[in-house]
Amino acid sequence: MTTSARQRLIFALDVDEFSQAEAWVRQLQENVGLFKIGKQLFTKCGPEVVQMVRQRGGEVFLDLKYHDIPNTVAKAAVEACKLGVKMFNVHALGGPEMMRKTVEEVDAYCAKSGIERPIMLAVTILTSSTEETLRAVGIDRPVTEMVPRLAKLARDAGFDGVVASPKEVSLIRAACGEDFQIVTPGVRPAFAALDDQKRVTTPAEAISAGATALVVGRPISAASDPLAAAGKILAEIEAALPG
Ligand code: C5P
Repeated sequence: MTTSARQRLIFALDVDEFSQAEAWVRQLQENVGLFKIGKQLFTKCGPEVVQMVRQRGGEVFLDLKYHDIPNTVAKAAVEACKLGVKMFNVHALGGPEMMRKTVEEVDAYCAKSGIERPIMLAVTILTSSTEETLRAVGIDRPVTEMVPRLAKLARDAGFDGVVASPKEVSLIRAACGEDFQIVTPGVRPAFAALDDQKRVTTPAEAISAGATALVVGRPISAASDPLAAAGKILAEIEAALPG
């Protein structure tokens, strides 16, 4: 894969104001290839915030974690394609039919419109879920079994990869092979505070373990020089890439 280090650094736009989102894109764009827009910012600002990032030359990871009946998720995914996002995600717990139908409709739409298919990712088990959480909803399997199982379902449905904790990367690599993308949050460079993240790895460790791209928020946003912090993370990514 020839993805540049800049395309592997995803900044989490964890703000709720359009103007703040715009200021971050303007400030970080030189070192950051993708900007993650999640439920809070999207619910507040809507598709215009996606357009703003793209107009400023950035790419968007639309982190809305779709989970619904197959037809509804497939239609929402096609709308995400129309917005021109580079990457979006669904919950693998929505099941194989939901994921297959989404791949089918996205592929059909992209072929018809002559656009590149966005990178389609699945969330396996949220890292906020413990074995206790799973038992409460009737899943008796350990997280270490559920994560590769759901990752394989996503791969078999035609998804490009998963969002996962850096600690799960090797498990997923072993189950899904080398071409599967693994996007990891919970990354902390040596210079940053842990914040509320508990199980973290450095950017270099995550890339060396096989992560494809990293989602980073506060280590950049809370730094005294955010652009320089992003630059340091890029250098770490670059140094850890094979070859
Ligand atoms: O500030 P920080 O680098 O911790 O931000 C990480 C981003 O990744 C946030 O948007 C957070 O919601 C998201 N995320 C995470 N852990 C997960 C899934 C998503 O930190 N397991």
